[in-house]
Amino acid sequence: MTKKIGTKILGTGSFFPDKILTNADLEKIVDTSDEWITTRTGIKERRISQEHTPTSELAYQASVQALKSANISAAEIDLIVVATITPDMMCPSTACFLQNKFGIKTKPVFDLAAACSGFVYGIAVAKAFIASGIYKKILLVGAEELSKITDWTDRNTCVLFGDGAGAMVLSASEEQEEGILSISLGADASYWDLLYLPAGGTVNPASERTVKEKLHTIKMHGKEVFKVAVVKMAQVAEEALILSGKSLDDIKLIIPHQANMRIIEAVAKKIGLPMERVFVNIHKTGNISSATTITALDEAIKCGKLQKGDIAELVAFGGGFTWGAAVIRI
Ligand code: ACO
Repeated sequence: MTKKIGTKILGTGSFFPDKILTNADLEKIVDTSDEWITTRTGIKERRISQEHTPTSELAYQASVQALKSANISAAEIDLIVVATITPDMMCPSTACFLQNKFGIKTKPVFDLAAACSGFVYGIAVAKAFIASGIYKKILLVGAEELSKITDWTDRNTCVLFGDGAGAMVLSASEEQEEGILSISLGADASYWDLLYLPAGGTVNPASERTVKEKLHTIKMHGKEVFKVAVVKMAQVAEEALILSGKSLDDIKLIIPHQANMRIIEAVAKKIGLPMERVFVNIHKTGNISSATTITALDEAIKCGKLQKGDIAELVAFGGGFTWGAAVIRI
């Protein structure tokens, strides 16, 4: 019988633009307050990229960090996958622009669109490619510039989002008990119109009308998103845990998608995990969609909350709706 190939995590990295937009700054733009934003979301500030800095640049900076921590060169990577809903262009993929920055000319690259679940979906893709023996080393990135698809006159959404990128290097391993232990994914597209970006695709190609009506920015029914997010995140976290054969006691830290502090607290309560074992950095980042779980994981490792051998669980939820969880050993 052929031996199963495991997937280990060689390194992680993250990158945020320098510009900080605080709640006080937002008070000057829309009718809101630090008190409202903090109590409803837990967000205090978010990072905003420069006008002419594309998503691929954030992806590149995070990838450089991840490769450094993995102690390998970009040339050793067999495949690059970028999870994003804010690509540099509709075509080519942001992964192409990232490849170009590294000057690698022959390796396959593609983008993956699963909104805020994008990075967890990407882990599943990476694990499948590695387990099948097709590729040995994969660079997986979650990178977003949500500030560029935000309606800065809409207080319902503009206080929530930010920019940033995180990256992970995954590699084939003979060991089954390290790296990616289990994954569970799901989606229910009947909810698509609760969180979407109406224009720029084939339904509403860019036109004078789409620009005038601000259809190139995120539309969201926050209350409804909130309710489904709590249920699905708790459910998928439990599913992945069962698949891993581990118990909640084995999990050192849960790293949830950072969309709203109240969602995170409700999910933790539902699965019976104390908040001390839930990693939160939403106050500094806001919601950066596919980049939240990986940047939070990177921070948890860097600040020593996760150490070699520890088991963590990433749990995500996003537009679509999509959701997913991955149990990993650092
Ligand atoms: N400042 C002040 N008041 C505001 C603001 C604001 N920024 N935004 C909304 N309000 C007002 C509303 O107009 C409303 O006023 P009204 O009662 O006079 O009509 C009031 O505050 C309450 O609004 P609600 O929508 O009921 O507020 P809620 O408690 O639901 O919080 C929020 C809104 C923060 C958006 C919440 O629903 C939420 O976080 N939902 C989930 C959103 C989310 O996570 N999206 C992303 C997930 S997927 C992904 O990451 C892409």
